[in-house]
Amino acid sequence: MSNLNNVHFKFLPMSMRVLFSAVLLVFGLGYCMAMFQVWENHAGKDGDPMLSGKDLMIAYGGNPEGTKLETALRGSMADMLPAEKRQTILDWLHTGTKVEEIAGKIDPILQEHCAACHNPEVNPHLPNFTSPDGLKSVTAKDEGMTIHTLIRVSHIHLFSITFIFFITGFIYSHALVRPTWVKCVVIAIPFLTLITDVASWYLTKVWSGFAWMVILSGALMGISFTIMWFTSMWQMWLGKLPADVGEDGQIPCIR
Ligand code: HEC
Repeated sequence: MSNLNNVHFKFLPMSMRVLFSAVLLVFGLGYCMAMFQVWENHAGKDGDPMLSGKDLMIAYGGNPEGTKLETALRGSMADMLPAEKRQTILDWLHTGTKVEEIAGKIDPILQEHCAACHNPEVNPHLPNFTSPDGLKSVTAKDEGMTIHTLIRVSHIHLFSITFIFFITGFIYSHALVRPTWVKCVVIAIPFLTLITDVASWYLTKVWSGFAWMVILSGALMGISFTIMWFTSMWQMWLGKLPADVGEDGQIPCIR
């Protein structure tokens, strides 16, 4: 048993099995937290509280229907005006923010209910609703995450997740899985889907359908992680030693 590389879990020293299990326990916990965080960050962006493809399209690619004005009218500014006037502004936002409708429909509302505060003489830091330019600044399209943010998040993501799956895959390599190609595919999938996941964040800006690629990549990564986690834990502690494993504990290479 000079070579531990290709040895089945049951033949590894107890200390190593304890180490592997402890690492898997913490990774498992971390994975649950990561899923929870994805939920917290993205669910509900489209108005529906469940996490959906639309939420991810908005997060990465932006929201063609969403503007700062709409967010404010649904949030902190909601009580500044009567409901039917609020609806008038929302309808105007949803029908293409036509410039010719501002003077007759929108500006009177802004002057009556908003300009008291949104006025450079009162508060220079707020959008100025006494001039048309101020309105323009809050009706610009929501462009989603900036390229700058994406680059920062993607390099952290690529490095850290590679570590996690190198360690998880290394532990799982001590399992006996037949046929061998299945084992190899399960080990390789997280790295491939890591690349398609990160690439899709950028591609979602070009075509929003790539949000589904983000979801598919994440799902496949999760499935691989789950398979490696449970197979390793099972074969390490609970399962019987598979008959295929040699007297010396070596996992036969061929087959
Ligand atoms: C009583 C003063 C006051 C009134 C009236 C008021 N606002 Fe505001 N508004 C604020 C303050 C203060 C902020 C910044 C803090 C915040 O976002 O809650 C703000 C923020 C906003 C923002 C977000 C700006 C940004 O850059 O993200 C928008 C949009 C907005 N208001 C629209 C309106 C509209 C439309 C009305 C009229 C229906 C209105 N506000 C009436 C005080 C007011």
